[in-house]
Amino acid sequence: TETGCLSIIVLGASGDLAKKKTFPALFKLYQQGFLQLNDVHIFGYSRTKLHDDELRERIQGYLPVENKVSSNVSDFLQLIKYVSGTYDSREGFQELDKAISEHETSKKSREGSSRRLFYLALPPSVYPQVCKMIKTFCTNKSCLSGWTRVVLEKPFGKDLASAEDMSAQIGELFDEPQIYRIDHYLGKELVQNLVKPFSYFNLLLLSLLFLDLETLQLVLRFANRFFLPLWNRDNISNVQIVFREDFGTEGRGGYFDQYGIIRDIIQNHLLQIFCLVAMEKPVSTKPEHIRDEKVKVLQSVNPIRDEDVVLGQYRGYKDDPTVPDDSVTPTFATVVLHIHNERWEGVPFILKAGKALNSRKAEIRVQFKDVPGDIFKCSKQGRNEFVIRLQPSEAMYMKLTVKQPGLEMTATQSELDLSYRQRYQGVVIPEAYERLILDTIKGDQQHFVRRDELKAAWEIFTPLLHRIDEGDLQPLEYEPGSRGPAEADKLLEKAGYVQTHGY
Ligand code: BG6
Repeated sequence: TETGCLSIIVLGASGDLAKKKTFPALFKLYQQGFLQLNDVHIFGYSRTKLHDDELRERIQGYLPVENKVSSNVSDFLQLIKYVSGTYDSREGFQELDKAISEHETSKKSREGSSRRLFYLALPPSVYPQVCKMIKTFCTNKSCLSGWTRVVLEKPFGKDLASAEDMSAQIGELFDEPQIYRIDHYLGKELVQNLVKPFSYFNLLLLSLLFLDLETLQLVLRFANRFFLPLWNRDNISNVQIVFREDFGTEGRGGYFDQYGIIRDIIQNHLLQIFCLVAMEKPVSTKPEHIRDEKVKVLQSVNPIRDEDVVLGQYRGYKDDPTVPDDSVTPTFATVVLHIHNERWEGVPFILKAGKALNSRKAEIRVQFKDVPGDIFKCSKQGRNEFVIRLQPSEAMYMKLTVKQPGLEMTATQSELDLSYRQRYQGVVIPEAYERLILDTIKGDQQHFVRRDELKAAWEIFTPLLHRIDEGDLQPLEYEPGSRGPAEADKLLEKAGYVQTHGY
């Protein structure tokens, strides 16, 4: 582990993202002792004129203090200093640099290196400008060792051309290993398990006999013989990657209307999950090897056809005063992707996301084909499914056909269920942002989006997005609190999804 001076600079410190995600994640890392390994200082920078204490007060209410034990809070807050300035102001960034340098030359840190982590909790439109200011005024040229890293939040552009333009501008200032493009879905615990396998898994048979699930370990894609031979077009009928929220765009209508659900959720979060489900086994667990495989699978996706898309907009969306009355921005979309490769040809990958639906849930649902020569009439009961629920209550379960207990010879559906929080009581499941910030400090880029990956992701969705922007594809109205437009269920059926019993 590197030691020495670490400066974490949160740009956009008075904004919502910083308050709700960045500072709370930093606090959790502090609480768990990760930041104390370093001589760390945190700097907030934004346009609002504030004193250090005023920023600290604003943040304090959002810090996750469990059991009302606030012992660490004030120590943590004391690490934070504030500098105000605009995002194009030379003076502002010079002052910021001065504050960081003072910290770096303080007695405690003199022998260490200068490590500067710039977290841009800002609208993407200012990224190139801010990166230029950081590069010009805030990279410590006099220090021989250390690094400068910039962390960027999505959305990265609005389409292929704008994303490429942004990448080129930032790429002139910083090298790819210095750039961390956050997709917080990659930091969620269960998503991690798809790529960071544990090494063993207890026999499913135990559960089939209705024994305790206690001994069941993590089910993971690349470390389980169970999955290796089944994870392909011969056995899998379709894959669904679903994101639902039971609230609308409240308070974010202005932002959301410019992007829509495909840019907000599907092109990034769901596509990242898609990669992890569909990619080939990487050569090793090195970040570059994993990202190489993700790019390959993205490049194998066929162009999206109109008949593979259903769009929706919930009734009431346009009542938001920040949303134009004639908005045709989708708040719901189902998009079916087809991969042109040996493993997946003919297997629909259904990506579905919506706001103001009937529940809050994010899950991956891998549905297997019917059993050939089915003597038990299993298909009436439903198919085998492997489900990974990312939220709420992280879990993995397998839907199996088993014998109904009793004297009758009847088949029924049941689940092998591994609920994380229940199974690993007392184990702290970290929030996505904690892990991702820690990764940036460590210099691990595995859970960040590489430039070529971003480009490949935009290549898939840009033609469709342009058709929507030009009004060629219109959203269907759906009731808030519903499942979304009925046409989306029909599309699912067409893609081969069979509704199963249970959950
Ligand atoms: C963000 C989107 O990236 O993810 C939001 O911009 C969405 O629209 C949020 O609500 C969902 O994140 P989570 O972690 O709450 O599922």
